[in-house]
Amino acid sequence: VLEDQWISSWRAPSNIALVKYWGKYEGQIPANPSLSFTLSASHTNTTTLFEKKVSGDKMPTFELLFEGKPRADFNPKIATFLRRILPYSPWLGEYNLKISTENSFPHSSGIASSASSMAALSLCITEMERKLIPSMSEGAFLRKASFLARLGSGSACRSIEGPLVSWGEHEKLTGGSDLFGTAYSGPVHEVFRDTRDTILLVHKGQKTVSSTAGHSLMNGHQYASQRFSQAHSNLSALTEVLENGDLHRFAEIVESEALSLHAMMMTSVPYYLLMKPNTLAIIEKIWEFRRSTQVPVCFTLDAGANVHLLYPGTSADKVLQFIKNELVAYCEKGQYICDASGPGAKKL
Ligand code: PMV
Repeated sequence: VLEDQWISSWRAPSNIALVKYWGKYEGQIPANPSLSFTLSASHTNTTTLFEKKVSGDKMPTFELLFEGKPRADFNPKIATFLRRILPYSPWLGEYNLKISTENSFPHSSGIASSASSMAALSLCITEMERKLIPSMSEGAFLRKASFLARLGSGSACRSIEGPLVSWGEHEKLTGGSDLFGTAYSGPVHEVFRDTRDTILLVHKGQKTVSSTAGHSLMNGHQYASQRFSQAHSNLSALTEVLENGDLHRFAEIVESEALSLHAMMMTSVPYYLLMKPNTLAIIEKIWEFRRSTQVPVCFTLDAGANVHLLYPGTSADKVLQFIKNELVAYCEKGQYICDASGPGAKKL
């Protein structure tokens, strides 16, 4: 039975894809499988107060506070999300949601908050739903939360569990689904137990082309089928590397994925660029540093200009020194965020 008034709070992290999701079909079905590290420092905290409506049109209503203030510009995304998930959680139609949300990272940092925020809200909703189905197992709870999060933002379905999560069907993934993210259950070498991600903030402005527009440019893209098969083979190769701990090969796969993602943007019709000159300057510095020191550091990019530096915790001192000495100069206002792989979302 659902109470007339009930409150739920969750923290959900951001994630960074090693094999990228780029291109989707109707219903937020990914065109290729992806695999990501769940982060920990970059996260969203969301509290949702569910209040039963006295009357209404069976559509969920909501009020949103972002960092304590109304943000009308965020409302369309939440409204679309609630409309999309209503068929899967119809009880929502009887409720008004008072959503209060905040990010651990600055909103205008160029770090996408859609994954962590959609995951946190989905967890609040799924926790309320569990009251209707008290027999819901922990696994079913996580799958439902991830399923709903996917409908908010595809990559959000990988922000529920950790530290490695896959989304999409692939021969090497047991239990992989296009409908929700799954904690990676294959063998993982100890070099990946404590993976660091330092996010270099190259450009904090608004992106010129949104991810939604980018995904849709993969429809009819002249390299689409090659890209999707590349993601499949990179994922196969990555599962081997996760097992054998070959960090040289890891860098090759992860960097190739990042550059292929941006190559898709550069060869879309119309074409566009999200990298900035400083993105390229940083990449070249990383290659030079890795060649001369043999420190196992590599980069990845999401759909933006910022650079994610991935390295094992055992190399942290050397890499942080390198960042301070050589890379900070290329960051907007010298800013970067120190993050690391983490266990997934947490009830507050
Ligand atoms: O979840 P979306 O629709 O914002 O797409 C995210 C796509 C990338 O971040 C570029 C890649 C990924 O797999 O996370």
